Amino acid sequence: MKIILAKSAGFCFGVRRAVNICEDTAKSGARCATLGPIIHNTSVTRALAEKGVRELGDVGDAQPGETVIIRSHGAKRGEIEALKALGADILDATCPDVAKIHGIVRRESDEGRTVLIVGEKNHPEVEAISSWCGDCRIVETPEEVREWLRQSPNAKSAPISVVSQTTNTRDVFELCCLEVKKECTNLKIFDTICNATCRRQEEAKEISRRVDAMIVIGGKSSANSIKLAEICRAHCNRVYFIESADDLDISYFSDSDTVGITAGASTPAWIIKEVSQMLSEEMNIEESGGQAGETEVK
Ligand code: F3S
Repeated sequence: MKIILAKSAGFCFGVRRAVNICEDTAKSGARCATLGPIIHNTSVTRALAEKGVRELGDVGDAQPGETVIIRSHGAKRGEIEALKALGADILDATCPDVAKIHGIVRRESDEGRTVLIVGEKNHPEVEAISSWCGDCRIVETPEEVREWLRQSPNAKSAPISVVSQTTNTRDVFELCCLEVKKECTNLKIFDTICNATCRRQEEAKEISRRVDAMIVIGGKSSANSIKLAEICRAHCNRVYFIESADDLDISYFSDSDTVGITAGASTPAWIIKEVSQMLSEEMNIEESGGQAGETEVK
């Protein structure tokens, strides 16, 4: 059996940066908390809790003088204002790629343009982006774009600026843009899918095309991991979406010659290593690859 491990599997720079900020703050001895889970991975948030990083369910849970860390998804404008009013010390770990979108939508709104966000309505990143806009609309699919244009004939000549959730799939974003381009005459499109997501998705597509089975490691509520699994399913019939090595049923792979592994942006390296090692040990094959890069285990 050969195992192909995606180069891009695991923490992206934005997630690593946010986790490092939490660890450094806890180490400094400051009373600190994150506004919601810092990333969608319970083993990481549990480890941070053991180091003293509290998790706030809501802004109202913050205590005066406490350092509140904003996660890589960013926070809503109202939450930032409420934290300031409470006297919390805000430490912003918003991913620079997400912060860039906040800047774009603020500027476009100030110029009187309607912002169209292509992304998941209930995802914290999208909720935060929409809070920094004036007039805005969130759509998830090309069908929703068509429906919006049907219901709002004025939108066709209105100034519209389109942005994407950073972890969107390129296909969905491009199809949505196509629908807007067909109808709207005053349009600006900002491709804000982040580079880390593009690389990860491209690699997942490429590997899943040439393996018998594909393992996607990520949190069940991690949007980018769910999308990775969708991409892999479009190119491979056997895709296993797991959170950790505990979920791995080795018998699935007994008749596979080649197995691919990728992981979402919030999956720590040690979980990826555990899955890869468990697979190679159980299948009685010797690991020969490095750490980063496409690793072939023969
Ligand atoms: Fe940032 Fe992209 Fe990661 S937006 S947090 S680099 S998935």
